[in-house]
Amino acid sequence: MSVAPRTDGVLVDRYGRVARDLRVSLTDKCNLRCTYCMPAEGLPWLAGPELLSDDEVVRLVRVAVERLDVTEVRFTGGEPLIRPGLLDIVGAVAALEPRPRISITTNGIGLDRLAPALRTAGLDRVNVSLDTLDPARFTQLTRRPRLDAVLAGLAGAAAAGLTPVKINSVLMRGVNDDEAPALLRFAVDHGYQLRIIEQMPLDAQHGWDRGTMVTAEEILASLRTRFDLSPDPTERGAAPAETWLVDGGPARVGVIASVTRPFCGDCDRTRLTADGQVRACLFATEESDLRAALRGGADDDELARRWRTAMWGKRAGHGIDDPTFLQPTRPMSAIGG
Ligand code: GTP
Ligand code: 5AD
Ligand code: SF4
Repeated sequence: MSVAPRTDGVLVDRYGRVARDLRVSLTDKCNLRCTYCMPAEGLPWLAGPELLSDDEVVRLVRVAVERLDVTEVRFTGGEPLIRPGLLDIVGAVAALEPRPRISITTNGIGLDRLAPALRTAGLDRVNVSLDTLDPARFTQLTRRPRLDAVLAGLAGAAAAGLTPVKINSVLMRGVNDDEAPALLRFAVDHGYQLRIIEQMPLDAQHGWDRGTMVTAEEILASLRTRFDLSPDPTERGAAPAETWLVDGGPARVGVIASVTRPFCGDCDRTRLTADGQVRACLFATEESDLRAALRGGADDDELARRWRTAMWGKRAGHGIDDPTFLQPTRPMSAIGG
């Protein structure tokens, strides 16, 4: 094992993991208020000058692609579709050489209208969050009556060719834990790929409870009451989702079991927040301030060097099960998942 960060090339950590997948949060704001994510009144948002400008975002993504060999770029939020410069940012990132694959994780609101322009700008695919198909439940869970908008967003994404369209569903006990089979039926019928997610301790309200979390085992048992699930022969790689063939395939379903079946040993992620901080892990308690370096006049080599140093310090795993585990102070909505 080497003992110091490399001075050139890829983002590697002291455990030998290489980060080629960059997740960029474009805003901490959102037009929904999911109960497991944000309080009804919202959160203290980042102020305008704190946010990276569109040019600053593109510069840092360019450094990641050109100097650090990042090959996948995913835009997240908050809700990335509400970032005014989104189309320009996607277009500029799609023009980078070598062109990275580009995706977005969104709540889907407004996607029906935006999908064709995003596709033209260079977006490859989308993941849409949808936890329930019941309108009343949706309104209760997100505190906004927008189920129809999300369904239209999914349809618009598929029609525009932003495929595979994936659906992310977080299951919560006593809220929507009975809905896994219905969500899978809906996804299979529409050609979307469902992934059901174990809730992680990242909510702003610190209300997560390991004891009541719906586990992957329960999710699979629930799905198997209505579907036959068989092992998926495709390579998982570093993907958080473990997948199964549904009723023999070709449809697939994924389970993202960050808590009961962690996948940190294969992690290939690096993250950039909307205010320009590098996070080595979703659960990192330290960040590296690239915005200050960039605004202080650092050149691309210096930015790349700082990014490598930040990733070198990445911990082996999230440590959720350690007695000393500390939830990061930055909430999920400001990290981007
Ligand atoms: P694909 O490239 O389509 O596989 O995307 P993804 O599943 O990696 O990303 P997405 O934004 O759709 O996230 C789905 C769920 O996985 C969310 O709950 C994320 O918080 C979670 N997730 C994404 N990346 C990581 C990660 O590195 N670690 C952990 N523990 N969870 C992650
Ligand atoms: N645990 C797991 N997934 C979460 N998401 C939001 N909060 C949590 C959490 N506490 C999901 C959203 C979205 C993605 C970015 O992360 O549903 O699909
Ligand atoms: Fe990677 Fe951290 Fe996610 Fe584990 S929790 S997979 S180390 S980002």
